[in-house]
Amino acid sequence: MNRISGQWSVASGQSPMLWISGYCALPIALIVIALVFLSGCSNIQRDPPVQVWDDMKWEPKFKPQMENDLFADHRDSRVPPEGTVARDQPYEDTVYNTGMEGEYYVGKSPVPMTLEEIKKGQAKFGTYCTPCHDREGTGQGIVPLHVPSWQPSNLTEDRVVQFADGEIFNVITNGRRTMPAYKYQLSVEDRWAIISYLRVLQRAAHGSMADVPEDQKAGLSKMN
Ligand code: HEC
Repeated sequence: MNRISGQWSVASGQSPMLWISGYCALPIALIVIALVFLSGCSNIQRDPPVQVWDDMKWEPKFKPQMENDLFADHRDSRVPPEGTVARDQPYEDTVYNTGMEGEYYVGKSPVPMTLEEIKKGQAKFGTYCTPCHDREGTGQGIVPLHVPSWQPSNLTEDRVVQFADGEIFNVITNGRRTMPAYKYQLSVEDRWAIISYLRVLQRAAHGSMADVPEDQKAGLSKMN
């Protein structure tokens, strides 16, 4: 091969097949083949594709819910050892966590009804319950206004007033019929606070003149 005026040229005696107008054809052919491969060969490849390297596609692995001979019980998904508890969310089947006393709804909330508790419940009720049950709990919130077929209960009616605290706790936790569950939005603490406030709303809805202190009765009737 001689170098003539900046180009590689065919030297006499070499095979002409490897040369195209003075350039070596072999590297060019390799580049073309590489490009075809790199472009994915999507329309000329076989299905399933030719697997040159296995990578991690076929390595042995565990898949959820599959059988696995490695374990005596042949279960791929392992069961946590008995008595395992979540580290950050200790949970016990107490009245406080379930609203249940044995198999019955607990009658009265295990949380004392303080003013602080009621105020917390008021804030949470305002956020999570009023959209459907409205501020007074009568079930005429903005949601049923737009979706009249989705009618929330009137929380101040006698039927609900007579619910045990544990039953309301259960409705908030797990939902009931078309009422959605709120266990993910509301902590156990918030749920009991809401129940305190709901009892206040119910008491207010059923107030009568007999509840008004004597010295204020006169002023009230004048206003009416
Ligand atoms: C997205 C709308 C919606 C929200 C928000 C909502 N509710 Fe309800 N709730 C309903 C509907 C609808 C019903 C009626 C369920 C039925 O009878 O199908 C209902 C029923 C109830 C009942 C009575 C169940 C019964 O047996 O009649 C209680 C108690 C209740 N809700 C409490 C709450 C509390 C407390 C909150 C706030 C944490 C809340 N709800 C938030 C829609 C809602």
